[in-house]
Amino acid sequence: MSYNAGALVGRTVSKYEIVSVVGGGGMGTVYRARQVGVQRDVAVKVLNIELSDTEQFVTRFQREAENIAALEHPHIIPVIDFGREGDYVFLVMALKTGGNLSQIIRGTETPLSDVQRYIEQIASALDYAHLRGIIHRDLKPANILLDEDGNTFLTDFGIARRLGETKLTAPGTVVGSPTYMAPEAWRGEDPSAETDVYSLGIILFQLLTGKAPFEETKTARLMNMHLFDQPPLLRGLRPDLGEHFEMIMNLSLAKDRAQRFHTAGEMAKAVRTAVSAHKAPAPSAMPADSDKTMILQRTEPKPPVGRDQRVQEALQADALRVPMPSRPEIPAAPRGTGRSQPTPLGRAEPELAAAPRDNTRLLVIGMGVIILILLVAIIVLLLSR
Ligand SMILES: Nc1ncnc2c1ncn2[C@@H]1O[C@H](COP(=O)(O)OP(=O)(O)O)[C@@H](O)[C@H]1O
Ligand SMILES: [Mg+2]
Repeated sequence: MSYNAGALVGRTVSKYEIVSVVGGGGMGTVYRARQVGVQRDVAVKVLNIELSDTEQFVTRFQREAENIAALEHPHIIPVIDFGREGDYVFLVMALKTGGNLSQIIRGTETPLSDVQRYIEQIASALDYAHLRGIIHRDLKPANILLDEDGNTFLTDFGIARRLGETKLTAPGTVVGSPTYMAPEAWRGEDPSAETDVYSLGIILFQLLTGKAPFEETKTARLMNMHLFDQPPLLRGLRPDLGEHFEMIMNLSLAKDRAQRFHTAGEMAKAVRTAVSAHKAPAPSAMPADSDKTMILQRTEPKPPVGRDQRVQEALQADALRVPMPSRPEIPAAPRGTGRSQPTPLGRAEPELAAAPRDNTRLLVIGMGVIILILLVAIIVLLLSR
């Protein structure tokens, strides 16, 4: 929390009576306030005093207001007002009283139905913003607020900027929250929709396991992990979840953004189908009559598959409803590889071909026997003369 947190409690800024401190972050303090005149409760985010001296921060704060005000979506916190009074630069938003997602996670696994709802709501907000050229750039649980009914709302497009606009950040600096920052964000590259998808992937991992894939207090070490380390396998922490969730993590946390889901909606759709497949009573791997002799289709390990194919697999509800044959861990294969999978028909062919071959063998044996009988008959005939 910033140094001046609480300093404004009991005072009035513009037409807002500051009631209490809600929380504090990197750029300011958020207060609960009463809007004079209409008597409604709002959230007022006041920029840190020392920061309002810095033109860059004021510009960024103003951009936050402009960005959010341009976004109208049921899962994005609406901006009500933006202003400057004396030393204070402030942003007024709708107040949400259900806390934020980091308070929900707190090291515990979130129920799958809630995970699905949160991811779907946030993904729809992200897709909406991405279509308008706005990348969030600081997606994290603290920026996902909740109402009393457990619906989620995205806030803090504070460091988002319209694609193609001049950079507000100083050269050589990167902006974001280290636990959630994508490799390209660490490298200072221009963000894209996939940059937010990566952060949403980290949040998904946290919702499912209660912990972030990369946890480290030293920022430099954390950066290296995001850039080079593979995230821990989900099955190590949640053995009950299975292959499809693992695939979703692979497609969200790929180091190369070209290998990720290209939209948050694609990811949410894959989560929905994976959750339904998990809920559906899985056909048991061993049939009840497992001691009876049965004809079973042989499953072969498949070659590594490309990103497009993995997205297709993750999205195909039908594929998810049926447990897929087990496959070795999917490495981050370059796009477009591994399309030539053996077809089920191809695998069945050798068995189908076996029947004609057996008939031929019988025919040959039969003819051999007939020739043998004829030979014996001829010899007997000759001897009898
Ligand atoms: N509109 C809002 N309604 C209720 N709480 C809010 C609102 N906006 C922010 N908060 C809360 O205020 C706290 C500080 O937010 P913020 O200044 O954005 O910092 P950060 O996102 O870095 O935690 C967070 O805990 C957040 O949940
Ligand atoms: Mg915030």
